[in-house]
Amino acid sequence: MRVLITGGGGFVGARLARTMLAKGTLAGRRIEQVVLADQVAPPADLAADRRVESRVGKLLGQCQALRDEAFDGVFHLASAVSGECESDFDLGLASNLDSTRALLDALRYRATQGAAPTRVVFSSSIAVFGPDPAYPFPPLVGDDTLPTPQTSYGTQKLICEHLVSDYTRKGFIDGRAARLVTVTVRPGRPNGAASSFFSGIIREPLAGEEAVLPVSPDVAHPVASPQTMVDGLIAVYEASREAFVGRSAITLPGLNVTVQQMLDALEKVAGPKVRARVRFERDERIAGIVANWPRGVTTARATALGLKAETTFEDIIRKYIADCAATPAALRGMS
Ligand SMILES: NC(=O)c1ccc[n+]([C@@H]2O[C@H](COP(=O)([O-])OP(=O)(O)OC[C@H]3O[C@@H](n4cnc5c(N)ncnc54)[C@H](O)[C@@H]3O)[C@@H](O)[C@H]2O)c1
Repeated sequence: MRVLITGGGGFVGARLARTMLAKGTLAGRRIEQVVLADQVAPPADLAADRRVESRVGKLLGQCQALRDEAFDGVFHLASAVSGECESDFDLGLASNLDSTRALLDALRYRATQGAAPTRVVFSSSIAVFGPDPAYPFPPLVGDDTLPTPQTSYGTQKLICEHLVSDYTRKGFIDGRAARLVTVTVRPGRPNGAASSFFSGIIREPLAGEEAVLPVSPDVAHPVASPQTMVDGLIAVYEASREAFVGRSAITLPGLNVTVQQMLDALEKVAGPKVRARVRFERDERIAGIVANWPRGVTTARATALGLKAETTFEDIIRKYIADCAATPAALRGMS
């Protein structure tokens, strides 16, 4: 089978590609080719895999050509991140909304030519949830919580969820949207995401560097390891329509944790000297964005698909340390 991963040069996309290529199959079918479409080139190990084809360029510019190609499966991960979308409104609309519509239309075109609807997994985000004054946040957001995003990024993700659902209803694609919780610990350097510090306060101290905590330690948030999110995306792809239930988005599993608990776990795993490398310095912009994010999730539909989050943050840190040991490059840059 041929699989397209948009955003395949990014953090989750590259890990998704590696996971699928290592297994060699998806939904029981042998993977012949994985096409990675991204504005940046994929990591060297993926580029060197003979089953990988890389297409570098803005997704919007690639979609016209995609009309004439047959893919058995598509994972749509290409996206500008939250901080970027807040600071550059046009970038968010182009990268997240316009590109998604163009991709869906390319797949729709094939369906109108008689091809079977392509199975599509769209990576959404729990940033679709926000505390609207008319609908205050419940303590934990569930699959059935009304999404009322309070950021441009969250709004674009929600619109795309609905597009995926409607193109599915029309029979143009077989689409599913999965809301990722914040992935941590992310290797490499900080990125433009407002959530970047959730990884930085663990990754930098472990690498012997200082890290700044820009929000209060009592901030609570759902997080998961990169592999838990990748396994979730694959499970959503492989689920039957009946098992997925309906066309609305599901939230992937997360561990609900406070920043204080994350720091306590760091101390438990790596000791007080490492923990002491984190210093608190409030950043009003980041704190303002994060205050509008869920403090925790419940994930009944993902659980029904057999998916589970880590049960302690120590687990997540230990998985990161094991990843770094297996891939020393992960300590230095994107893995
Ligand atoms: N990492 C998280 O904590 C998290 C949480 C919730 C949702 N998500 C979603 O998961 C997906 C993957 O996230 P990630 O952490 O790997 O992010 P990432 O930034 O590492 O990867 C996204 C990739 O998309 C590419 N991209 C962005 N705009 C593009 C465009 N217009 N054309 C082509 N490529 C473009 C970027 O170059 C990048 O490689 C994204 O859709 C993101 O919104 C991630």
